[in-house]
Amino acid sequence: ARSLDKLYNFADCSGLHLIFALNALRRNPNNSWNSSNALSLLKYSASKKYNISWELGNEPNNYRTLTGRAVNGSQLGKDYTQLKSLLQLIRTYARASLYGPNIGRPRKNVIALLEGFMKVAGRTVDAVTWQHYYIDGRVAKVTDFLKTRLLDTLSDQIRKIQKVVNTYAPGKKIWLEGIGATSAGGTNNLSDSYAAGFLWLNTLGMLANQGIEVVMRHSFFDHGHNHLVDQNFNPLPDYWVSLLYKRLVGPKVLAVHVAGLQREPRPGRVIRDKLRIYAHCTSSHNHNYVRGSITLYIINLHRSRKKIKLVGTLRDKIVHQYLLQPHGKDGLHARSVQLNGQPLAMADDGTLPELKPRPLRAGRTLVVPPLTMSFYVVKNVHALACRYR
Ligand SMILES: *[C@@H]1O[C@H](CO)[C@@H](O)[C@H](O)[C@H]1NC(C)=O
Ligand SMILES: *[C@@H]1O[C@H](CO)[C@@H](O)[C@H](O)[C@H]1NC(C)=O
Ligand SMILES: *[C@@H]1O[C@H](CO)[C@@H](O)[C@H](O)[C@H]1NC(C)=O
Ligand SMILES: *[C@@H]1O[C@H](CO)[C@@H](O)[C@H](O)[C@H]1NC(C)=O
Ligand SMILES: *[C@@H]1O[C@H](CO)[C@@H](O)[C@H](O)[C@H]1NC(C)=O
Repeated sequence: ARSLDKLYNFADCSGLHLIFALNALRRNPNNSWNSSNALSLLKYSASKKYNISWELGNEPNNYRTLTGRAVNGSQLGKDYTQLKSLLQLIRTYARASLYGPNIGRPRKNVIALLEGFMKVAGRTVDAVTWQHYYIDGRVAKVTDFLKTRLLDTLSDQIRKIQKVVNTYAPGKKIWLEGIGATSAGGTNNLSDSYAAGFLWLNTLGMLANQGIEVVMRHSFFDHGHNHLVDQNFNPLPDYWVSLLYKRLVGPKVLAVHVAGLQREPRPGRVIRDKLRIYAHCTSSHNHNYVRGSITLYIINLHRSRKKIKLVGTLRDKIVHQYLLQPHGKDGLHARSVQLNGQPLAMADDGTLPELKPRPLRAGRTLVVPPLTMSFYVVKNVHALACRYR
């Protein structure tokens, strides 16, 4: 109870919504879920009126390895149905959201598990969830983070999940529930480095493009290295990427057309390249920019700078540049970053620094330095697609 109080208060104070994963490993002799402990927790939580959403377990495809006892998809589906009935009996949670099954990488056996689950509980969950870790934590190298093939593994996985979900529960939302650069808690000096940001920012762009609306980062703070803040709560590079993304990038995705590449830009071609350009409507929560502005975010994995000329209605607009580069002598291994040449650090324990853009005069070519991430707000475009919610 005390742990739940602390966790809930942390989330509540931070303006976050808590999704609590109940323990799925309590099993009856016939392998069905023993919900008696979960019920105690639900009752306690309801007595405190905690607004929580729920799920059951974590990476069920690993239960055999972890506990010696496998749980198949249809059994897990029944367990979720049972949990849904429990929630409906408790007034506070009668309409609470339920998410799952939180599976790992969709290999063949995992897809089979998902199919079994979807047949039974596809309509019971509010979103279907899965997790993705790019690299085996034990073998990661900094150059791995620059491989376009690695960046694209996620795209194939989304398609596999979408296929199953659309078969059993067409239109059901899909969420990426856990994501990290490397598995097994991450790799020291790599998964918390500037270079790991390429995977993170590309994940956000690629998923938004493929219609995935929610991505949960594993993790905010932990003893591993996939976290966003270090042991002293100082933000790491992925934190700054996330903060800029939150401030500048709205949910609405725009198509990007790139001309002047050597190859004819077929759909997807540019995305697979080393220069990745994403465009969204600028976040409407950002009051520095009027509705109708556009945010581009760019990952340049080339070892040379790239020049981008905006054309059409974007041609003669003032652009605000937010260029993130590694800070210090560690290069791509850096754990601190600079924004437009200024190192980023907390102003004090509770205050984020001002994120100052560099204004570029109208019509100027964007020059994207090698191996960088950057955001560009094209001001006052009055883009029709971005003027309304
Ligand atoms: C379920 O677990 C509780 C303890 O958590 C135990 O008292 C109970 O007997 C279990 N039920 C069954 C059917 O095994
Ligand atoms: C499995 O065991 C539990 C607890 O004993 C019981 O409530 C449930 O009905 C059993 N399920 C099946 C399918 O036999
Ligand atoms: C609980 O939180 C969800 C998600 O933030 C919100 O949509 C819902 O309105 C909240 N429910 C109550 C009763 O406050
Ligand atoms: C799934 O597991 C349950 C419980 O162990 C078992 O009764 C059922 O036959 C299994 N279903 C399939 C399709 O393997
Ligand atoms: C990680 O970096 C720190 C500081 O740059 C250094 O002291 C440490 O030895 C590095 N650890 C590994 C495993 O490379």
